[in-house]
Amino acid sequence: MFNSATVFDTSKGTSKTFSVPVDQELASQHLHSLPQRYIRSEKERPSACPTSHLDIPIIDMDMFWGESDFCRQKEMEKLGIACQQCGFFQAVNHGIPLPLLDRMKGIMRDFFQSPLEEKLKYEVQERDGYGQAFIASDDQKLDWADRLFLTISPPENRKMKFWPSKPVDFRETVDQYTVEVEKLGNTVLSLLSENVGLTPDCFINMFGKVSQTMRMNYYPPCPRPDLVFGLSPHSDATILTMLLQDDETVGLQICKDGKWIPVQPIPGALVISIGDMLEVTSNGIYKSIEHRAVTSTDRDRISIACFTVQVRKQKWVLLLSS
Ligand code: OGA
Ligand code: NI
Repeated sequence: MFNSATVFDTSKGTSKTFSVPVDQELASQHLHSLPQRYIRSEKERPSACPTSHLDIPIIDMDMFWGESDFCRQKEMEKLGIACQQCGFFQAVNHGIPLPLLDRMKGIMRDFFQSPLEEKLKYEVQERDGYGQAFIASDDQKLDWADRLFLTISPPENRKMKFWPSKPVDFRETVDQYTVEVEKLGNTVLSLLSENVGLTPDCFINMFGKVSQTMRMNYYPPCPRPDLVFGLSPHSDATILTMLLQDDETVGLQICKDGKWIPVQPIPGALVISIGDMLEVTSNGIYKSIEHRAVTSTDRDRISIACFTVQVRKQKWVLLLSS
């Protein structure tokens, strides 16, 4: 029931292993009370924070590729406001084939439903692999979720020993999705460049070499969603994050004006958000917003997050090491 998370401490150059439960196994025991390691302090609990019924903006990507300058301009304004005020939007008609999105969810479900011994073949080491994420000490509070984390691009950085060989189409499907998600990320970055009066390729050139990672998040049903987090509040240390979320179960919430807004699933849409690196590069014009995931009593939930991050420049590494 336990798996070990090995974490690499970059400051000391050492690694440490922690023993953490596999939440899917814990959930399958239908516990009536939760282990203390999951229960948040009273102030922190999801049930203690106000929620709002607003929706996050929806951007129709077709408008950018269509014939009408007027519609393009209108959608551009909506996109700018979304990323400057909310940091999040739902992209529809984004160009990634819908059957590919369904296949991604299918392979993810197949993997998480496979026997524990099979999943533990890909047990997390440092960062990539299967298990709990963000483990830094033995007494920290744990999130109610299991994950599979993979480096997906550039292909030479992939650590194939963490890529499941079952289901048989797992690798090929992730490979196809990587190409599509990268294309969409570049489109969004060029639109956001244009939106602040820069040439479309300005952000892409400024970031230079980027890498993509993917986290498949599996949130089992939880007996007490009011006491725990599926994913603790955080902002993403990325340029952009593109999230494919469950069509049925609501779980993602973003923080706006001190209130938590649930992101209602729109089948076929992708949730795109600004990360810290783009907030900094845009001098704070675009906002990287705090968000979290909550759980449900009777339903599990899946999400697939793709993160675009800047690869450290050679010059920067040299400066630090001299
Ligand atoms: C993440 C994230 C939200 C979700 O993986 O960084 O914010 O709904 N995920 O799973
Ligand atoms: Ni996130």
